[in-house]
Amino acid sequence: MSTSSRAVRIHAHGGPEQLVIDTVEVGEPGPGQVRIRHHAIGLNYIDVYQRTGLYPATMPLALGMEGAGVIEAVGEGVTHLKAGDRAAYAANPPGSYCDVRVMPAMNVCKLPDAIDFETGAAMMLKGLTAQYLLKRSRPVEGLAPGDFVLFHAAAGGVGLIACQWAKALGLRLIATAGSDDKCKLALEHGASHAINYRSEDFLARVKDITGGQGVKVVYDSVGKDTWDKSLDCLRPFGLMVSFGNASGPAPAFAPGILAAKGSIYVTRQTLFTHISNRERTQQMADELFDVVVSGQVKIRIDQRFALTEVKQAHESLEARATTGCTVLLP
Ligand SMILES: NC(=O)c1ccc[n+]([C@@H]2O[C@H](COP(=O)([O-])OP(=O)(O)OC[C@H]3O[C@@H](n4cnc5c(N)ncnc54)[C@H](OP(=O)(O)O)[C@@H]3O)[C@@H](O)[C@H]2O)c1
Repeated sequence: MSTSSRAVRIHAHGGPEQLVIDTVEVGEPGPGQVRIRHHAIGLNYIDVYQRTGLYPATMPLALGMEGAGVIEAVGEGVTHLKAGDRAAYAANPPGSYCDVRVMPAMNVCKLPDAIDFETGAAMMLKGLTAQYLLKRSRPVEGLAPGDFVLFHAAAGGVGLIACQWAKALGLRLIATAGSDDKCKLALEHGASHAINYRSEDFLARVKDITGGQGVKVVYDSVGKDTWDKSLDCLRPFGLMVSFGNASGPAPAFAPGILAAKGSIYVTRQTLFTHISNRERTQQMADELFDVVVSGQVKIRIDQRFALTEVKQAHESLEARATTGCTVLLP
């Protein structure tokens, strides 16, 4: 059976004006694939990098890496899902900005009944990222309750999940965000301190908050604008976890500066290495489902757009006008 679907695609890299709604044919799933009909789609900053060409791709490119919906059919060899299952995913290849798609089953997980589709679509990519950052990207000296970590853009999609999860782990998360209202939001979601990095010197504030010691880990998804001062926020043997480039890519650096700043470590992580097999994907998803179903982490959806309003959704995200998660509704 073949069916048609709307799919948001780009035919050239560029601004939000490049986003067009095409009609595509969707067939039966092949071996290891499923066909899923979306009820909600997650918006992520990586979609912007792919649109602009910061992460180059061949054209046309169907955008979107997160979604939730109902499985319509499964291909040969798929045993963890069946037609009729509610499911959600963060996955490659992109293409979730659509009504229905065929995709690899590996990263698609059954969605617990207690989690609605919008929440499922909002939380998979951002929640699995918060999971691997806080649980699997740790400094050599470990992380213990009471330790300070610094988390940039903490009022965003990944950020508000991380604030809550860090609190559940007993960590003292120092949040940065781009307005006083966003700082308030981060504090309400479990950050121990919040710094408006547009009006305050975050390095001076971090030194002040930590009694001059610095933090054990910096989680930095802002990139260019925060990189240099972030390294100086680390205490000796601290870990810089770079995981994004919202302000542009972090600059190149000579390894010698890591010695000068206290034998610090730097890593650049991507979720897709962590979820590169089915077992680990499910294990990480189960942990995420547990903290969401138990209420330790609430998934805050502050923006909802119709799929046809995808340009406005991208504009808002890039203008730093969003907080928490954003979903597109087909
Ligand atoms: N490597 C990975 O595995 C991985 C996975 C998921 C997400 N990420 C990264 O994590 C970050 C958060 O993702 P998200 O989807 O949840 O987005 P988001 O945090 O909801 O939105 C990005 C935020 O970045 C901040 N920002 C700082 N400088 C900016 C600038 N010049 N332009 C635009 N935004 C700027 C803004 O918050 P303020 O106004 O508060 O500064 C903005 O709201 C992104 O950088 C994303 O690429 C990485």
